[in-house]
Amino acid sequence: LSNGLGLTPPMGWNTWNHFGCNIDEKVIRETDDCWAELHRDSQGCLVPKKATFPSGIKALADYVHSKGLKLGIYSDAGYLTCSKTMPGSLGYEEKDANTFAAWGIDYLKYDNCNNGDTKPMERYPVMTRALMQTGRKIFFSLCEWGDMHPALWGANLGNSWRTTNDITDTWTQMISGADQNEVYASYARPGGWNDPDMLEVGNGGMTFEEYKVHFSIWAISKAPLIIGCDVRNMSKETMEILGNQEVIAVNQDPLGVQAKKVRMEGNLEIWAAPLSGYRTAIVLINLADYLGSPDNVIVHWDDIGIPPDTVVQARDLWEHKTLKQHYVNKMSAHVGIHQCKMFILTPISKH
Ligand code: GLA
Repeated sequence: LSNGLGLTPPMGWNTWNHFGCNIDEKVIRETDDCWAELHRDSQGCLVPKKATFPSGIKALADYVHSKGLKLGIYSDAGYLTCSKTMPGSLGYEEKDANTFAAWGIDYLKYDNCNNGDTKPMERYPVMTRALMQTGRKIFFSLCEWGDMHPALWGANLGNSWRTTNDITDTWTQMISGADQNEVYASYARPGGWNDPDMLEVGNGGMTFEEYKVHFSIWAISKAPLIIGCDVRNMSKETMEILGNQEVIAVNQDPLGVQAKKVRMEGNLEIWAAPLSGYRTAIVLINLADYLGSPDNVIVHWDDIGIPPDTVVQARDLWEHKTLKQHYVNKMSAHVGIHQCKMFILTPISKH
C-alpha cells in the first residue's frame, strides 16, 4: 500500500500467541483481539473494555508513544472478531478508522472472521480507504489467512497480508507455514510483505535450535518480526534469538527481497535472498528427524545468484564470526537435525 509505511518489514510484539484473550492494559504494548466491550456505545463507537482497559486506549497509546514505540490494535472485517467477544468493523469502517486515528493508533491488524460469507475484496478495500482518509499514517496488516491468495491483491490494499492460517508453537507447523509463505516470495516488496504469522520464539513448544530456524526463516523471508511470547519473562536463550542484530539486519535490509528456497536435497534445504551491497543471505536447514542422515549442505554459487569465480567471504550470523576461509564457486557446511546455519556472503573479488 502506497502510504509510505512498511518500507522494511514491521517489528514489534503482539499478545495473541501467548496471552490469547487474557490481556489487560498492564501487559500490553500492542493489542490483539479482545480489547473492547461486546457492544458499541450509543454513537456506534467501539468501547475499550472497562474491566481490563480502564484508562482507555488513548492513554495507552500516549504511554506507548512515550516509550518511543508505536501502538497496534486489532479489528475484524466482519460483524464480530474471531473471539466473538467484541464487534468487528464491517459497516463501521469509517467510524472505527477515525476512532483509531483519534486514539493515536499506528498499526491495524484486520482479521477475517464472522463476515457473513462475503468476499475479502468486498470488505478490505473499504477499510483501506477509511484508514487513508483519516490522514494518520496507520500500517495496515491484512489478516485474511491466505485463503484467497492475498499476495496477489494485497499490495494495493495493505502493508502486509497473512499467507497462512494461525501458527502454532510446533516445529512441523512452523516449517509448513514457512513453505506456504515461500510460494509467494515474488510478491513481497517494500511497502507490502507476506506474513506467515507471528513468532512463537520463547513460548516453549520448540527447542532452542528449532527456534533459531524459526527466526532465521522469518528474517530472511522478510516476514514481519512480531514477537509473540511473554516479553516480561524471557530466558537468556530467547533473548539471544530475538536480540540477534545480525539476523534482524537481514530482515530489515533496504533491498526488501524475500528469500526463495533455491535447492532441496532430501532433508537439506537452501534458502537465499539478495541483500543490498551485492551481498547474499542464505539459510541452510536440516529437516531430518533422525540422526545419521546426510547433513552436509553444499551451496553452489549457481544456485544463489552469485557469478561464477567470485571469491566470497562468509559471515556466520549465529556464531557471530567471519569465517577465515574464502570460498570460490561453492561452500559447504554441516547442519545438525532441526538446526540451521545462516550466513551473509560478501563478494571480495574475482578469482
Ligand atoms: C485469528 C487470527 C489470529 C488472532 C485471532 C484472535 O485466528 O488469525 O492471529 O488474531 O484471530 O481471535
